[in-house]
Amino acid sequence: MINLKKPKVFIAYDIFEDSEKYIGEYCDYTKLDSSKKRSFEDLKEGIKEADGIVVMGTRIDDELLQYADNLKVVSNVSVGYNNLDIEAMKKRGIVGTNTPGVLDDTVADTIFGLILNIARKFPKLEAYAKAGKWKKGDSEEFYGKDVHHSTLGIIGFGRIGETVAKRAKGFDMDIIYHNRNRKPKAEEKYGAKYVEMEELLKTADFVVVMTPLNDETHHLMGEDEFKLMKKEAFLINASRGPVVDEKALIKALEEGEIAGAGLDVYEQEPIDPNNPLLKMDNTVTLPHVGSSTLKTRQEMAMLAAKTIVDVLYGRPTDCIVPELR
Ligand code: DGY
Repeated sequence: MINLKKPKVFIAYDIFEDSEKYIGEYCDYTKLDSSKKRSFEDLKEGIKEADGIVVMGTRIDDELLQYADNLKVVSNVSVGYNNLDIEAMKKRGIVGTNTPGVLDDTVADTIFGLILNIARKFPKLEAYAKAGKWKKGDSEEFYGKDVHHSTLGIIGFGRIGETVAKRAKGFDMDIIYHNRNRKPKAEEKYGAKYVEMEELLKTADFVVVMTPLNDETHHLMGEDEFKLMKKEAFLINASRGPVVDEKALIKALEEGEIAGAGLDVYEQEPIDPNNPLLKMDNTVTLPHVGSSTLKTRQEMAMLAAKTIVDVLYGRPTDCIVPELR
């Protein structure tokens, strides 16, 4: 007998109406009441019957998965998937998916925004102008550093890293990169040069970290790495907070080992309001908004919706995370 029952999906993160509607065409779904603070109990309840769950950044681990008797797929509305406990999912045969591709340009724009803002001191200058303190004649303390014709070092040369390089080319920057494997086509396309990590750190004016977070990249940037960087160089991180050892970063900034940092991500999010990074003159601190334009967030949600349906209906998809393929 043909089974006509639709798969059940639990939407645990607010997606847009069109993506919710898409899921509704193929699946029965429940969703979290977005006016309520999301609790473990709510997740536990929602995941019980579900064949699939849609999340953004929610920790999916053994503790939660013990309640998931039918779960086949976790669809993550983000490209980073460090919230997934890969081993716990693997042993239960649960697939994890993400949203690669649709956010590359938006995140690369954010990274360039951080580069320009920290190098040219825009937040400081804006505060000065808005406070009505602008007088005739400018002062050297407001002079910034040129971004054009400087050296950009990209650690992690994936899709987003390459999209940053594309922008850097337009700024006449020298582009160097470090990655697990060399990318000859991208080297040619963007005029990027592969270098070892040490050379990158010693040479770059802007060190952009764009690696995924995993055991290998946890605290990839620490005390030793900051010591190798030039005193005039800036760190830019829009990947995941724990890729950078935040204590070591604070020390490097306080002691003038590096010139400044442009940050979108932190070891703890939301960041503790007392975190010294928020009080410093030589940081630009965004609240993890790398991909947050309306269009991109809509595209991410729709991709996550299509992917969960594809997996539940046994259709091929490119969005299964490599470790769970
Ligand atoms: C991602 O997609 O991983 C972004 O960090 C979400 O903003």
